[in-house]
Amino acid sequence: MGSSRSKQKAKVAPSTTLFLFGAHGDLVKRLLMPALYNLTRDGLIGDDLHIVGVDHNAISDADFARKLEDFIRQEAAGKVAEGGKEPLDPALWGGLAKRITYIQGDFLDDSTYADIATKIESTGTRNAVFYMATAPRFFSEVAKRLGSSGLMVEGEDEGQEYFRRVVIEKPFGHDLPSAVALNTCLLKVMSEKQIYRIDHYLGKETVQNILVSRFSNGLFESFWNNHYIDHVQITAAETVGVETRGSFYETTGALRDMVPNHLFQLLAMVAMEPPAAFGADAVRGEKAKVIGAIRPWSEMEALANSVRGQYAENTLGGKSVAGYREEDRVAPDSTTETYVALKVMVDNWRWVGVPFYLRTGKRMSVRDTEIAIYFKPAPYAQFRDTDVDHVAPNFLRIQIQPDEGMWFDLQAKKPGPTLDTQSIELGFAYKDFFEMQPSTGYETLIYDCMAGDQTLFQRADNIENGWRAVQPFIDAWAKHPSVEMYKAGEDGPAAANELLALDGRRWQQLG
Ligand code: BG6
Repeated sequence: MGSSRSKQKAKVAPSTTLFLFGAHGDLVKRLLMPALYNLTRDGLIGDDLHIVGVDHNAISDADFARKLEDFIRQEAAGKVAEGGKEPLDPALWGGLAKRITYIQGDFLDDSTYADIATKIESTGTRNAVFYMATAPRFFSEVAKRLGSSGLMVEGEDEGQEYFRRVVIEKPFGHDLPSAVALNTCLLKVMSEKQIYRIDHYLGKETVQNILVSRFSNGLFESFWNNHYIDHVQITAAETVGVETRGSFYETTGALRDMVPNHLFQLLAMVAMEPPAAFGADAVRGEKAKVIGAIRPWSEMEALANSVRGQYAENTLGGKSVAGYREEDRVAPDSTTETYVALKVMVDNWRWVGVPFYLRTGKRMSVRDTEIAIYFKPAPYAQFRDTDVDHVAPNFLRIQIQPDEGMWFDLQAKKPGPTLDTQSIELGFAYKDFFEMQPSTGYETLIYDCMAGDQTLFQRADNIENGWRAVQPFIDAWAKHPSVEMYKAGEDGPAAANELLALDGRRWQQLG
């Protein structure tokens, strides 16, 4: 049984030795260390957390800690302290830095794992978390060696139970067969309850708030079904391009990078049935069911219900922005998609007949991650023969980023003698009600892993169902490789608008 998220979250996490595989990588510097600092600031981890970097480069403990500090000070200030308004607290960092050490080792060499065992003895903290912030090709290799060296064995020490856990980053597999193979490999050497598969979208406050809104307010359930909801749009638009990740992106593309994981997590939050309890097994069971209910399209249907785009060069604000094919380590004739729009159907009692339109892209006009739930029109055209006989549909917009909140779009009568309407918003912005501490989104996830709460992590079946649902697109596209161009700074290719226009609908305006 997974533990429950209803607990008071103010408790300090259990003492842990946290091994960061891939210690010199970007994730550790940009997100994990700032998150660990923030957890320390918030009193959620104590002075019995030991952080151990593991990587192949040679560096001393002190230099490794200094390197992290320099990076956090200069580059990640916005994550630790918004806009640098709250500089790194020297005492707080000093306390944390004392407990940062480093193991130089090859991930494929057994002696690295012997050094890890020795380190656990020396910290005196037998609880261990192995965080795989490495290239994906190492996931199964590291897991096998953690298993064969006995490091995954949990037990008791002086009457106290201790745990061994692994955290695995995405991409978890490249398609359905590789995800199944990775799960099989992990489950040979550890149990499901020791595996924490991360999807960082689940660390975002607004994503977690979708469940709270739906299941702690009686109002929502009454209209949350195919009788009242016409369709759902899920968008993750980014302004950034592929940056330094050209070679990774060439073999990944927007579909694999964003859909089976982040966008399906958002879909699951909106579409899942109420779990019997707010615990890991119940929540993840409902998610697996709803993702498993996504209709598997045939090859022709997959092609008809998808649009692939790729950003082309453009001039924005007087500056020239490179097209995807001009990016570093990208083939000049690449057909990798940097944009994807899909229509999927969820075949269950609640959602039959309600399309879910998903889109995500890089180099779009604005950064905007949101869910728009469109309602059916009022049952009777009350105002026929007036100017308002065709009013715009109502919708609920759940904004994940950048401005977190929720807005109902309703029609109201404009003041004056004629009957005319205007869209108005009934809204809630997170920042108006809560003081938000600067955070990376990883804080909750790291904390939950140490606390043994798997609710916000993906179970094997969640991952496999996600890949199963996108596999028809992967297979169909492999036979018909082509992309439509859109200019950097524009909102995807024209065909994406046609996808909705064919159903008599339009995308929500971005931003
Ligand atoms: C990552 C993808 O998982 O999510 C990136 O690999 C993407 O390509 C990122 O940019 C988006 O995350 P966020 O939190 O900025 O929406």
